[in-house]
Amino acid sequence: MNSKITSSLLFKTTIILLLVGYTSVSFAKKGMWMPPNLGLKESDLKKMGLKIPVSKLYNDNQTGINQAVVIFDKGCTGEVISSNGLILTNHHCGYSAVQKISSATKDYFANGFWAKNQQEEIPCPGLTVTFVRKMVNVTDLILYEIYPAMKNEERDSIVDARIRGLEKGYRFATHLDAQIKPFFNGNEYWVTVSETYTDVRLVGFPQNGIGAFGGDTDNWMWPRHTGDFSLFRVYANSANKPATYAKNNRAYKTTNFLTINAKGIKEGDFTMVYGFPGTTQNYISSYQLAQIQNIIDPIRIQARTLRLEAMTKNMNADRAVFLKYTAKRASIANGWKKWQGELKGLQQNRVLDKKREQETRFMTWLNLHLLDSAVSGKASEILQSMDATCNAANSSIKTEEYIKEAVLSIELIQQGQLLEKIRKAISNLKGLALKDSLASLKASYLAFEKDFDPATDAQVFNALMPLYFKNCTGKIANEFTNQYQQYRADFGRWSNGIYSRSLLANKNELVAYLESDKPSLETITNDPALKLYNSIAEYRAKKINPVLNTYNQSMRYWNRLYTYNTLLMGDRSDFAPDANFTQRLTYGVVKGIDPESEAEYSFQTFLDEAILKDNPNVEEFKVPEKLKTLQAKKDFGKWGENKRMPIAFIASNHTSGGNSGSPVLNAYGELIGTNFDRVWEGTMSDLYYDANICRNITLDVRYTLFIIEKMGNASWLFKEMKIKK
Ligand code: ARG
Ligand code: ASP
Repeated sequence: MNSKITSSLLFKTTIILLLVGYTSVSFAKKGMWMPPNLGLKESDLKKMGLKIPVSKLYNDNQTGINQAVVIFDKGCTGEVISSNGLILTNHHCGYSAVQKISSATKDYFANGFWAKNQQEEIPCPGLTVTFVRKMVNVTDLILYEIYPAMKNEERDSIVDARIRGLEKGYRFATHLDAQIKPFFNGNEYWVTVSETYTDVRLVGFPQNGIGAFGGDTDNWMWPRHTGDFSLFRVYANSANKPATYAKNNRAYKTTNFLTINAKGIKEGDFTMVYGFPGTTQNYISSYQLAQIQNIIDPIRIQARTLRLEAMTKNMNADRAVFLKYTAKRASIANGWKKWQGELKGLQQNRVLDKKREQETRFMTWLNLHLLDSAVSGKASEILQSMDATCNAANSSIKTEEYIKEAVLSIELIQQGQLLEKIRKAISNLKGLALKDSLASLKASYLAFEKDFDPATDAQVFNALMPLYFKNCTGKIANEFTNQYQQYRADFGRWSNGIYSRSLLANKNELVAYLESDKPSLETITNDPALKLYNSIAEYRAKKINPVLNTYNQSMRYWNRLYTYNTLLMGDRSDFAPDANFTQRLTYGVVKGIDPESEAEYSFQTFLDEAILKDNPNVEEFKVPEKLKTLQAKKDFGKWGENKRMPIAFIASNHTSGGNSGSPVLNAYGELIGTNFDRVWEGTMSDLYYDANICRNITLDVRYTLFIIEKMGNASWLFKEMKIKK
């Protein structure tokens, strides 16, 4: 070999090692891996501790563990734990389904719910469970004769047509659903063939004092003591196929369910998380990362701090407001808290610098390989172009974020879109068509109104409008700024004016208006909430959206090229695609956080610690009396360990939103817990995963079994499970 090639190879290898990010820690590997590709990871998995062939983890002849890992509802994961279609997932994943079947007399949040037999299981309208039957890499069928640097305009129509054609072919051939999604920013395509069951029933749901223990205060935090699980069952028709709810449907039969291992875990044990992570951006450029860090996250945190303050004040003062806003508040607070952790992690770990260093390495590599045939055209323009594209859009991105998080988070203004629909119906329709349309708009309004308190929303208005005008002044010269000036920049007077006059804030008037024979067009057109909504919508359409559309198109192009060339820098099997809510496997080990860092945490929590947090005066920290008695008597059934009852543990698996409810497996593919969260220090992992810091939080399956038996009195369920103890 000539020496020039040798040194270039050596150099290349060094760069690859740096780029791929081999750290000295051997207890974790970042990445959410495609199950059908696990063969490429087999030696690494074995080295880490896997004791079964990877073909057991995934195969498409219906005998793999992949068949037991399901999409639960719209955004969570669940796992099959019996031959009768019993599904285990998180409490917070079943929460909204349970809210729909709860009432003042059937308060499952306060009391929990436990079926005593299959007949008592409760149908959950709208709830679905999806099985993935097969995943196939179809890149060659989608991207043939498409060269990497091809322009979006040329490429999109071809790719879209091929995707639609191939999906149709798969549906026809399998009689199942088929969906093709892009991976690696459009450099790879996979089809997922799936089957969705629509008769899903509630089996067991611990009361909030267990299932939501710690609430928003402990959310995204470790140590954690939440029994975050619930149980459902999939029902099928007599052919074991999906069917809409019918009393005679029978439990879904399967041989693919997980064996539960309740023997306990110790630090260092190998673990895998199998599930459906939603969105990660681990290949993001420094320019977009800077947007998130400097523009987007801070605006969201700032706006939500004000919004949560206004809501919480009213919720604490009035139980009726609390009941309207508790679910909304939880979801606003979930993002708010995550982004704070993310920002802190990004700053403390100098992630932006690391991304920039990576880009420097990319350019160095590129300069050495510009003549390689695989390197795409325009490769040398990528980083400069991304920089310029981001710079051109940053001010619009900032304004858009303030519009979304400040102006449109005021529900009265956001619901202006409902008034706009009413206005359109009145001006375009007549007779029966108009009546029908108004009746359905009335139903939407009432659904919204049920959880709406105008007085609380007015306070959100008073808190958020000043934030918008302080940061985006003078940008809207129309009805919006006119009104602002009309009220002489006095936000209190402005909101008084609007909330006293808008139909949206006056239920009886709006309902009477919608039911009247001739609703006047003038009334709705002059509604102040409609005017505000339309002025914002118009401003966005004219000034913001054109900039953002150009930005998105352009970034899609450059990101695709950047990822394409980045993949050339290493061995393809070392790169895992970003999460996109397809089935993935990630692996790591049970491990506390580095004791040399500030946070000296153990890897496991226990029930006695939860009871130390008990506070009967604080909703989030009320431990049920019975649970305290069980702890006092150390009555843990078979499930305790050294006279203590384990609750949760942390491990170094790379997970994301959507992984909630995912089965956490041991080296033999047996269920040892259910994933439900990540630790505060490591929430940056959606953008940058660091094995020293990032941890997933798992509910120990022993706590699940203990609660089923001792709190739910539902050990009849154990008969259908396969439990190793
Ligand atoms: N942080 C977890 C996840 O992202 C749990 C959220 C549910 N809990 C809550 N307190 N809001 O979804
Ligand atoms: N709690 C998240 C979920 O609901 C999981 C996570 O973000 O780690 O999917």
